[in-house]
Amino acid sequence: MADFALPRNSKVQDGKAWPKTEGATNTRDFKVYRWSPDDDDNPRVDTYTVDMDTCGPMVLDALIKIKNEIDPTLTFRRSCREGVCGSCAMNIDGTNTLACTSFNSDIKGDVKINPLPHQEVVKDLVPDMTHFFAQYREVEPWLKTDSQAPERERLQSVEEREKIDGLWECILCACCTTSCPSYWWNADRYLGPAVLLQAYRWLADSRDEATGDRLDNLEDPFRLYRCHTIMNCAKTCPKSLNPAKAIAEIKKMMLERQL
Ligand code: SF4
Ligand code: SF4
Ligand code: FES
Repeated sequence: MADFALPRNSKVQDGKAWPKTEGATNTRDFKVYRWSPDDDDNPRVDTYTVDMDTCGPMVLDALIKIKNEIDPTLTFRRSCREGVCGSCAMNIDGTNTLACTSFNSDIKGDVKINPLPHQEVVKDLVPDMTHFFAQYREVEPWLKTDSQAPERERLQSVEEREKIDGLWECILCACCTTSCPSYWWNADRYLGPAVLLQAYRWLADSRDEATGDRLDNLEDPFRLYRCHTIMNCAKTCPKSLNPAKAIAEIKKMMLERQL
């Protein structure tokens, strides 16, 4: 009979409650997922009580404060603090989003922080993105041309340029892909919303001359057609993009070339 219980060593346990800063009166509890490959301990949730009077407004500010002042072993990715690098993507209060653009004040009660779901964890809040970026490479995300290069740049009309709006802004944070139920179950074969949006970014670019090859590369029952329009991707994208729409456009191009 199938056993649906989690293996004993993957059950998340209550972790340590770290002492609050002496004299702090305006505090907030942050419940943060912890796991290290360096010991055999189960994952756990530690509680950090943060002095909000000396903390910046964003969830990332709180994480940096925790790391600097309470627990230097807490591990997470971040770089730009501006919502453009995509590295601080994590699950905050049940939603995949960016820690640097999420206000603490928008969250009610304790702030619960977990790594992006359905990814292997490297440590604490750091997911293993190796497979995600290998899939990104598969769509060959660069301009491909056969024609003679012009002396200067390849030009686009204003209308042609507008066709890649809503696509080029993607920061590859993977919030959408890791929120997609189809990707959870078929990540080995389904490319997922972020990579498919990136694939469409090149299909929609008037300067690209590899449309046929690009569509051939996606013509597969799993790579593209596992999208069932559940729309979690569009709901969660911190840049307000719509990967489901991009996927629908690719499907339309597939149909059109058969007519
Ligand atoms: S589409 Fe949005 S959620 Fe998905 S990777 Fe790009 S920016 Fe992140
Ligand atoms: S619309 Fe498609 S890609 Fe987006 S979450 Fe749903 S199944 Fe995944
Ligand atoms: S730190 Fe770059 S997107 Fe958050």
